[in-house]
Amino acid sequence: MSDDLKIKLLVVDDEQSIRRLCMTIGSSLGFSCNEAESAETAGSRLENDPPDLVLTDLKLPNQSGVELLKQIRGVLPRAEVAIMTGHGSIESAVDAMKLGAYDYIEKPFRVEKLRLLLQRMAEKVRLVNENAFLREKVNTDENLDGIIGTSSGMQDVLRMISRLKDTRTPVLISGESGTGKELVARAIHFRGAMAQSNFVAVDCGALVPTLMESELFGYEKGAFTGATKTKAGLFQAANGGTIFLDEIGELPLEMQAKLLRVLQEKEVRPVGSNEKIDVDVRVIAATNRDLEAAYRTGTFRKDLYFRLNVVTVHLPPLRERRSDIPMLVHHFLNRYAPGIHLQVTAAAMKSLLQYEWPGNVRELENCIARAVTLGDRQTIDVRDLPPAMRTEQHTSPELNAQEASSLSTTALAEMERMTILRVFEQAHGDKALAGKMLGISRATLYRKLKRYNIPLRGAGEPVETEPEVQAAGG
Ligand SMILES: Nc1ncnc2c1ncn2[C@@H]1O[C@H](COP(=O)(O)OP(=O)(O)OP(=O)(O)O)[C@@H](O)[C@H]1O
Ligand SMILES: [Mg+2]
Repeated sequence: MSDDLKIKLLVVDDEQSIRRLCMTIGSSLGFSCNEAESAETAGSRLENDPPDLVLTDLKLPNQSGVELLKQIRGVLPRAEVAIMTGHGSIESAVDAMKLGAYDYIEKPFRVEKLRLLLQRMAEKVRLVNENAFLREKVNTDENLDGIIGTSSGMQDVLRMISRLKDTRTPVLISGESGTGKELVARAIHFRGAMAQSNFVAVDCGALVPTLMESELFGYEKGAFTGATKTKAGLFQAANGGTIFLDEIGELPLEMQAKLLRVLQEKEVRPVGSNEKIDVDVRVIAATNRDLEAAYRTGTFRKDLYFRLNVVTVHLPPLRERRSDIPMLVHHFLNRYAPGIHLQVTAAAMKSLLQYEWPGNVRELENCIARAVTLGDRQTIDVRDLPPAMRTEQHTSPELNAQEASSLSTTALAEMERMTILRVFEQAHGDKALAGKMLGISRATLYRKLKRYNIPLRGAGEPVETEPEVQAAGG
């Protein structure tokens, strides 16, 4: 494995035997190790060859370990520093921790103890780097309207948006509840040439038919009791722009006929009026129902279906684009805990990636809002997630032990595969970076890519395929 893939450990001690021991342990953990016999030498290394981890003696010839710690905090805020102390200097070590050292270890120490300490530090560095990476990526990739998604499914949707934004073509947006249908409808309008005109959203399921008609088309003064003055309808309000007919499947048959006429003739007749008013409106409709099935069973007009459905944009459910989950998580963390750089633990991210998300992105958003409220303001851990998410989703009580264990192996394999895909995406297909983020060697990475059938494109980018579960032993 080339050195730039590895976690870098710098050992600072004036005793050569100690340096050697620490470096042997570091190397056995796969780190790339470097040494310095004084704080000055270590200090000069910080810029040229910045370490991820520093293990420093407290007592050094001129400058102390604590001074070095302060210097590191200044230039390498993401590096983790542990202090080695001799007998009787625990107090200074505790002081060092107040200054931001990760931990201290007393000399002489057991090899196993140092190994565990270094492992914990490396884990923390990986976690912080991954979280920072995602945060930056959200900041650079987020569109003006906040649509997040790099999965192939969402890329298709984003391409459709840019193709449709400047057209007057009717669009039908389909997708389960909470997948982002309204967000996409707004993007089509506000990214396009009609952005300066109105975007009017109507919830077709929310009004009784009689009210619906006067809402949509307006009414004349005296058309019904309470109509004390003439009022324009929503179609007129949207003139020159977009009308978004949400939950179109809920529209009563009688209103469907009226809507069809408006779309065909491009004019509305307000309730109680004999005059028709011209309207030029682009229609975007959305549904979480299967409209095709609805017109076959007669609850939705076939002619209206074909008029609305000139182009369909389908939003895939979140469970079919799990690689978007990490970025969405950080997007919502930015929204609900702005300015606080919360870390999501690996275990919590694993649970978030594994969950089925029946409520899709809205459910994920609620889950993050909840975790921010419940959490300790530093990390989001599994305990901050809703109970349903904390348990293994794939096992049921009826399964016998053998089935359960093979299932969880399969689930683990799927997890691993998704994690690799996700990290690869975050690393823009850069194998070196991906390896570093995953904390595995290049050889191991290649073995895993092969095992999980992740094909590599020319430049080393895996082509995204949705996770097909492979046997873990393969
Ligand atoms: N790709 C995405 N990126 C960022 N935020 C998203 C994305 N998709 C959905 N959201 C957010 O999730 C929430 C639900 O989205 P939206 O209301 O557009 O879903 P919907 O499909 O219209 O849901 P419903 O069918 O329940 O009306 C919103 O807060 C929205 O901003
Ligand atoms: Mg909606």
